[in-house]
Amino acid sequence: MTIITTIEDLRVLARKRVPRMFYDYADAGSWTESTYRANSDDFAKIKFRQRVAVNLVDRTTRTTMVGQEVAMPVALAPTGLTGMQHADGEILAARAAERFGVPFTLSTMSICSIEDVAAHTTKPFWFQLYVMKDREFINRLIDRAKAARCSALVLTLDLQVLGQRHKDIRNGMTAPPKMTLANIVNLMTKPRWCMGILRTPRRGFGNIVGHASDVSDMSSLSAWTSQQFDPALSWADVEWIKQRWGGKLIIKGIMDAEDARLAANSGADALIVSNHGGRQLDGAQSSIGALPAIVEAVGKRIEVHMDGGVRSGQDVIRALALGAKGVYIGRPFLYGLGAMGEQGVTKCLEIIRNELDLTMAFCGLRDVNDVDKRILLPGTF
Ligand code: FNR
Repeated sequence: MTIITTIEDLRVLARKRVPRMFYDYADAGSWTESTYRANSDDFAKIKFRQRVAVNLVDRTTRTTMVGQEVAMPVALAPTGLTGMQHADGEILAARAAERFGVPFTLSTMSICSIEDVAAHTTKPFWFQLYVMKDREFINRLIDRAKAARCSALVLTLDLQVLGQRHKDIRNGMTAPPKMTLANIVNLMTKPRWCMGILRTPRRGFGNIVGHASDVSDMSSLSAWTSQQFDPALSWADVEWIKQRWGGKLIIKGIMDAEDARLAANSGADALIVSNHGGRQLDGAQSSIGALPAIVEAVGKRIEVHMDGGVRSGQDVIRALALGAKGVYIGRPFLYGLGAMGEQGVTKCLEIIRNELDLTMAFCGLRDVNDVDKRILLPGTF
């Protein structure tokens, strides 16, 4: 039996179990992948101050994100095609998150629909919205998220155009998968994955197929995106979406202090410092590198969250120390899902919470709400 003690262990197992086309889709960044690498490399540069002989009894990682109780300040990031990492992936990840007590965010581009996830969970989850040209479709998606009792809307602003990911092009990344000889040979080495997908009826874009005008499948990812996504998106759209939604609003994809001010002016409850996990603008700064200036600009007016490159509970606490109220993990939970389904997502969350709790203790703290810059070594952040 494989022993899993780190997120990297889950990644190695997922790589064995998930067809290459979908593993690469999850794992890759855009162009040279420099931003993708910087996201995690920059975390490692930030050092802690170790403290001793402090009372460490009764520690807690409980806190809130946008006013909602969370078992630790970590949410599952919205990720497209999650149901291709593992059959019914969105349902399994949402269930694991619900049991653990952290938010699950369902992507617009999910395989399982809003209704599928709602039918298999008991507590509210979050819904992520992409702005598409068809505004009636956006209205319908918002109404469906409300009907499913989603408790926050995550509005992603950094995908007006799609970043180029070389591996997706080389793998012929389409949904349903393009059946090239290489893909068929690779699928034959993943019988467990194939059986799961064959057994489930949920294989298309659950939120989109049959709801948006003339979308039956997605041929090439980039061609499809440029057809559907709105390159003319503006802050005025954020305004009407906020009105229509009426609940907690989180704006995702902010990397610049000026955009952060505009997000705060829009009346959103939180923003996410994010470069889409290094999948969009390669050459952009790492998210953890961008965080301090954004906290400085708007941290007193709006909750600042972040994602990108978080691979351990230590990274979570580094982000909190630099002013984040919460962080999101994308690939780590996808690796867990691809490796071991629902159990793998739970394992991913357990690993992160354990690392977070122990690091907090080594830094002399008992309550995650007390984490601030004082736990970091000056000159390393
Ligand atoms: C994403 N991300 C993303 N974001 C979003 O708002 N909507 C989406 O549909 C997707 N889809 C998606 C698919 C995959 C496979 C990945 C890896 C990422 C970005 C995601 O929400 C988040 O910003 C990053 O994943 C964070 O970086 P890490 O944790 O993956 O390093």
